[in-house]
Amino acid sequence: MQPINIGIIGTGVICDSYLRGALGVPANEGRPAASPSRIINIKSVADIRPEAAKAKADAFGVGSETVDGLLADPEISIVLNLTIPLAHAEVNRAIVAAGKHAYAEKPLCASFGEAQALLAQATKAGVRVGGAPDTFLGAGHQACRRIIDSGRIGKVISGSATVLSHGMEHWHPNPNFYFMKGGGPILDMGPYYVTDLVQLLGPVARVAATTCIGNPVRTITSQPRAGETIDVDIETTATALLEFVSGATITLAASWDVWKNKRLPFELYGVDGSLIVPDPNFFGGTVEISDQGGDWTAVDISAHPFHTPNRTMRDGREVADYRIIGLLDMAAAIQQGRPHRASGELTTHVLEVLEAVGTAGAERRWVDLTTTCERPAPVPQGAGEEVFLA
Ligand SMILES: NC(=O)c1ccc[n+]([C@@H]2O[C@H](COP(=O)([O-])OP(=O)(O)OC[C@H]3O[C@@H](n4cnc5c(N)ncnc54)[C@H](O)[C@@H]3O)[C@@H](O)[C@H]2O)c1
Repeated sequence: MQPINIGIIGTGVICDSYLRGALGVPANEGRPAASPSRIINIKSVADIRPEAAKAKADAFGVGSETVDGLLADPEISIVLNLTIPLAHAEVNRAIVAAGKHAYAEKPLCASFGEAQALLAQATKAGVRVGGAPDTFLGAGHQACRRIIDSGRIGKVISGSATVLSHGMEHWHPNPNFYFMKGGGPILDMGPYYVTDLVQLLGPVARVAATTCIGNPVRTITSQPRAGETIDVDIETTATALLEFVSGATITLAASWDVWKNKRLPFELYGVDGSLIVPDPNFFGGTVEISDQGGDWTAVDISAHPFHTPNRTMRDGREVADYRIIGLLDMAAAIQQGRPHRASGELTTHVLEVLEAVGTAGAERRWVDLTTTCERPAPVPQGAGEEVFLA
């Protein structure tokens, strides 16, 4: 199989993760290099700031282009959209209009209506849409999928998904987009949790929530803009109830107004047992199961691909970060003529759920979902990107 040529639009912070994943460059000094992808080839990168694209291209040894030049390149089949959320819809539309498949960082668009229009445009053009997050394809989450599908914890009745912190302005060099439409903890972090929930439990039926803005003005403490303030334009705390078509009800707590907490990211309770799902921001982690009140037992996830920690975080945590495998799966799926897992339908359904959290919070009512989606196929057990070529 010939690798599929990829172009990237948006060469900011997260672009490094994708380039490292594609090229096998280690995340931290001292870690071993991995093999470059056999499935994709990064041909060129572009940005609204050409100097940023050039610097990134030089740092990673790939080509740099203007945005229009990249979109006009007939050798590029898939364009990866790594711009800020408010630019996602416009850039996605341009990619599809250029006759190329689009794969975007989350959220797919800043609004559900834009995402629906994009899917219609792509169907008409005969191209695919896919999008982050792809962490649900990682070893920890696939091990949970296997446990749930095996029936070991029985029908899932309830559970909790929790993502609480004090925001992004202490580390991101240019954090404004996190506090604008398309950002906030609901649309920025919510996709990791709700996408994983949908792959584990199926689609959501309706949503209730309360929401608020905890701190209307934020002070940046990261460099190079330390001391500047940001007016917050999006809810920064949400407490939601997600009722699934399956009958399960999950509480989702998402906030950037919390300094410290001791809650686990993710727990599911079935009629026959309980399951600790690892942090869905990453691919590996610790899975624990308790059968009918028995002791917690750690589950071996090593038979699933993408489990080995390969990155040390700012706080010293060792994590598995393979933020590109959704794109690898989409590229392989195009060649094999099968559906890709991080699909436009999945990410649009998740976006509708998250937008419904905002609506439910603003209007203090239950909001029924209008979309649904299939659960993406589980990832076969095995090693590395080869599993997508099986
Ligand atoms: N930073 C992270 O750790 C992280 C993690 C996961 C996902 N993401 C997601 O990735 C996306 C980008 O985040 P980031 O942190 O890299 O942001 P960033 O601000 O560091 O980079 C965004 C880049 O997009 C460029 N850009 C903006 N509008 C554009 C347009 N219309 N055309 C071309 N280029 C344009 C900007 O010049 C900038 O270089 C967001 O959707 C974010 O939610 C970020």
